[in-house]
Amino acid sequence: MGIPKARQEDKAEPPIILSDINSLHQCQLDLCNALEKLADQLPDNIDTQECLHLARMIYPTVKSAHAFEENKLFPYLTSHFSQQINPQTLDRLHCEHWEDESFACEVQEALLSLVKKPEWANHEALGYMLRGFFEGLRRHIAFERDLLNQLLKPNTLLN
Ligand SMILES: [Fe+2]
Repeated sequence: MGIPKARQEDKAEPPIILSDINSLHQCQLDLCNALEKLADQLPDNIDTQECLHLARMIYPTVKSAHAFEENKLFPYLTSHFSQQINPQTLDRLHCEHWEDESFACEVQEALLSLVKKPEWANHEALGYMLRGFFEGLRRHIAFERDLLNQLLKPNTLLN
């Protein structure tokens, strides 16, 4: 599971932006699926290497997607759909990014603790934390996709 690099053009065209956001959303959804699998395997079937890999991936995966949205996607939407989009909607998404990044750090620490000192782990609390994180992230992505699909023409719909 790698993090797709967003293109660096200052004036990315809509198809490029859509391709990039689709890749970044999918990367986060792959992360959610991996975290759900881990949560389902608690407490007895923990793959230590996979756990360590997820701990290292979680924050950069979420942060790179958010950086692209904040720096490319949201400015594009603001400039092209100012009549259709409520500024409070983007403010809400921006706040959810902060919350998810903070939550990602907490999950990262919890996973690292599980690897370092599995005997100290509270599996029930960890499972609850993992589910809270990936379910919230899935809801956020679903909302963003619905928003983009409402704003954009049918032939550019995100999958
Ligand atoms: Fe987002």
